[in-house]
Amino acid sequence: MPVSYASGAIPAIHVIHENADWTAPLFDALEARGLPYVDWNMAYGDLALSEAPPQGVFYNRMSASSHTRGNRYAPEVTAGVLAWLEGHGRRVINGRSALNLEISKLVQYPALHHAGLDVPETVAATDAGSLIEAFSRFDGKPVITKHNRAGKGLGVRLFRSRQGLAEYVNSTDFDPSVDGITLVQRYITSPDQTITRVEFIGRKLAYAVRVDTSNGFELCPADVCSLEASTCMADAAPRFAFEVVDGFAESDLGQLLVPRMQTVMADEGLDVAAFEFILDPDGRPYVYDINTNTNYNSDAESRAGVSAMGQLAAYLGDELEARYPAELRRAS
Ligand SMILES: Nc1ncnc2c1ncn2[C@@H]1O[C@H](COP(=O)(O)OP(=O)(O)O)[C@@H](O)[C@H]1O
Ligand SMILES: [Mg+2]
Repeated sequence: MPVSYASGAIPAIHVIHENADWTAPLFDALEARGLPYVDWNMAYGDLALSEAPPQGVFYNRMSASSHTRGNRYAPEVTAGVLAWLEGHGRRVINGRSALNLEISKLVQYPALHHAGLDVPETVAATDAGSLIEAFSRFDGKPVITKHNRAGKGLGVRLFRSRQGLAEYVNSTDFDPSVDGITLVQRYITSPDQTITRVEFIGRKLAYAVRVDTSNGFELCPADVCSLEASTCMADAAPRFAFEVVDGFAESDLGQLLVPRMQTVMADEGLDVAAFEFILDPDGRPYVYDINTNTNYNSDAESRAGVSAMGQLAAYLGDELEARYPAELRRAS
């Protein structure tokens, strides 16, 4: 059931999600700007879909990892709600097409290829035999397994041998993807053990953040997900787990990747997204994940003097203002 923090008469920003922890920083940023919003937590409640939706703009933040919070069917019900909103001509930021990408890496990869971005070679498997057999397609080189519907690094494991993969797949440790599809992907060795996450708001580059992966693959940047130690002590000089990259937009990499990522956003109807890439030892970038439900790391942001949540709130406010100028003027 939507919970309103706006007077029902005023068009509002409706935030569709299933995780109150991740939306709290956004609601703070909206409140700081005096923007009317409505909390649509899809984990519970009912919606009368034969009625017309309320007035306002709708921002979809449904997450691929909702099942890990007990909200197994939240993406499915959200698909119907987004169809209802779009059917009524409402402005939906990250609408149905974004949800399709969020819940399936298999859907993301052709979109990345189409825009000229390299994706690590990937095989999808739905049964144990094919999953083990997939190893033979990688010339004996290391592979990584991952869930097709994931987020948070679910099911990400590194295997250097077919035997290691077979033992895992046949063991009780094997953790299948909630949609039954496991991906086997070429492992890209990053010489400095980092990946980079490029954040876009309203299809504009916000910033790129470098993430230290030397402690593992669970890389959720939300503050509520952060581990106690925010620095990697294994390095001679400790480094931060998340660090905003200086001058990314002007760099050769930024010049190459940003326009292509923007093409994906335009092609796929994404308005807010984060793209993750990794550099191989030759400095060649491979893009392997699109997050449409993005979180920001506030330690990295405060060191760099930026606030993506602030930019996001301002963008949502602009989208609302553009559609309801008269109503909002009357209400203020
Ligand atoms: N092909 C790969 N080569 C090397 N590391 C990878 C590869 N794919 C994923 N990883 C590592 O695992 C993390 C999680 O994988 P990702 O595809 O982003 O899944 P999720 O959707 O769960 O975030 C990545 O951020 C990266 O550190
Ligand atoms: Mg990821």
